[in-house]
Amino acid sequence: MAERNTGELMEKIVSLCKRKGFIFQSSEMYGGLNGFWDYGPLGAELKRNIKETWWRSMTQLRDDVVGLEASIIMHPRIWEASGHTSTFSDLMVDCLLTKKRFRADQVEPQSGLAYGYTGAKNDVKESKDVFSVLLPPGKPPESARKVATQFYRERGIENPVLIGEQTEKVENSQRYNPENGSLLTEPRPFNLMLKTYVGPVESAENISYLRPETAQAIFVQFKNVMEVSRQKVPFGICQIGKAFRNEINPRNFTFRSREFEQMELEFFIRPDEAIEAIFGKVAKPATTGHPGEPQANWGWQMWHQYWVEERFAYYESIGLPRHTLVEYWQKGDELAHYARATVDILYKFPFSKRNEAGELMGEELEGVAARSDFDLSQHQRFSGKQTIVFDEELKGAWPKLDDGKKAELSLRFFEARQKYLLKTGEQPEKSSKQAREDADNLSKGYYVPHVIEPSAGVDRLALALLCNAYTEDQAPDEKGKLESRVVMRFHPRIAPVKVAVFPLLKNKPELVKKAKEVRDILRPHLSVDYDEAGAIGRRYRRQDEAGTPFGVTIDFDTLGENGEALKDTVTLRERDTMKQERVKVVDLLNALLGKMR
Ligand code: GAP
Repeated sequence: MAERNTGELMEKIVSLCKRKGFIFQSSEMYGGLNGFWDYGPLGAELKRNIKETWWRSMTQLRDDVVGLEASIIMHPRIWEASGHTSTFSDLMVDCLLTKKRFRADQVEPQSGLAYGYTGAKNDVKESKDVFSVLLPPGKPPESARKVATQFYRERGIENPVLIGEQTEKVENSQRYNPENGSLLTEPRPFNLMLKTYVGPVESAENISYLRPETAQAIFVQFKNVMEVSRQKVPFGICQIGKAFRNEINPRNFTFRSREFEQMELEFFIRPDEAIEAIFGKVAKPATTGHPGEPQANWGWQMWHQYWVEERFAYYESIGLPRHTLVEYWQKGDELAHYARATVDILYKFPFSKRNEAGELMGEELEGVAARSDFDLSQHQRFSGKQTIVFDEELKGAWPKLDDGKKAELSLRFFEARQKYLLKTGEQPEKSSKQAREDADNLSKGYYVPHVIEPSAGVDRLALALLCNAYTEDQAPDEKGKLESRVVMRFHPRIAPVKVAVFPLLKNKPELVKKAKEVRDILRPHLSVDYDEAGAIGRRYRRQDEAGTPFGVTIDFDTLGENGEALKDTVTLRERDTMKQERVKVVDLLNALLGKMR
């Protein structure tokens, strides 16, 4: 993919998405709405398959994870506890001339000569607004003056005379609009949560938010779910659902949208001090790679590594090869305030930045964060309801520890709790008192569980799968002449349609009847597209573009017109190799199911 013209490739993918009905612009008839997308027939199937494979691997195939489907709008205090009300913001800047808004960190750095003005006036009016324009090298000063004149005119000064022109050399500055050179406003925070009102009165006390992540619902339902599912720590709760963020700059097709879906798991684990009390030692990663079946003595680092590897395995299982993915460990200054470690799983999208060697660096598909006990602790503080759990094994193990070990573990636990409380702004005295109570509770078998969170985006994954599947190659037409074809090489597991059934000719009722019989055999088990329109070659091409991995053709051999040996057999064609084999109708379903795995 590295050698392709990536802008052109992305254009082709976007256009195929519209042409084939994967993705449409939302509200297209009304000119669209920036940051919102609709999934057409094939896109809807693709997303369903993504969600189904994720759900199956995360909960149905495991004993230690259960599901949840919570409401999108929740109590506004939840967002205070989670920190979203106060800190979920991006720094934004506005162009002083056009008012266009940018995310401060996404402004392309500019170099050149900045022309600054202290104001402008005419016979009747004066403006003392300071303004400047950055010109790239080689541009005449007149263009800066033109932009500045426009700026002051918009402040009500007709035919302005510019005042105090000065120039300054500027290197790699993000203070200017790359589109017109105009100065930008100072960066200021912009909260990304979408607001609404619950109930008929639009008053401050009725303000609510569309959830910006699905995770918080899991934390606030943690106790209920644990009780009803009879799970014990370590265990997880997963959820798939819509999330909303008022992104300043939605971009790169669906990659950064304002409405999207998340697939999140919150996996609750014992604090390391509890593990050490029970097992004497905490198992920590000794090597890289998958650490194997979970063990009771795993600390947070082992669990973190385990989930990172599980997630990579999932992506590979649905057809994203390992070399298209990147494991990125967030650096200290990139980590969220509550996170001990976060690994981002990146996909090398065609629009990703390139490193010095020209390789695509990748964009985030998923973050796997070790969130400590921050979330449940916050909800405990804000709601006044307990989120601690009782651990029978810990209670039994504690009295057997020697005094030195008890003191060491208590102190470590006390310090961690105190650090958390101080960070949340609690007074030192109150923090110490609370942390001491928490350490006492530990010795009685109680603690707030820690969390490992793999959090993925459905839409980003759909886009990655679309980018990964897109290929162009050559295939023979009906007359054997090579023509170029677009093939969406989806893994059969996530392909929107699994198999297409074709009668060789539409105007032969026996062929149509038999083809419909075959379709009806497959349909209860697989998503099937029945297609009888046009020449068979054209029908193959249509399915190749939809990414249908298998095609079944019913011909005169099937009807037994060319001898008994081929009667009730069909041609099974594979999309990628274009190889065809004869398969008995009675064996067809099993043959196809075998190829899906
Ligand atoms: N609970 C943690 C959390 O929400 P995040 O990194 O902000 O973490 C998790 O989001 C995932 O959600 C991302 O890795 C991405 O796949 C998806 N996501 C986040 N913002 C998105 C957006 N504006 N458009 C599409 N997907 C988005």
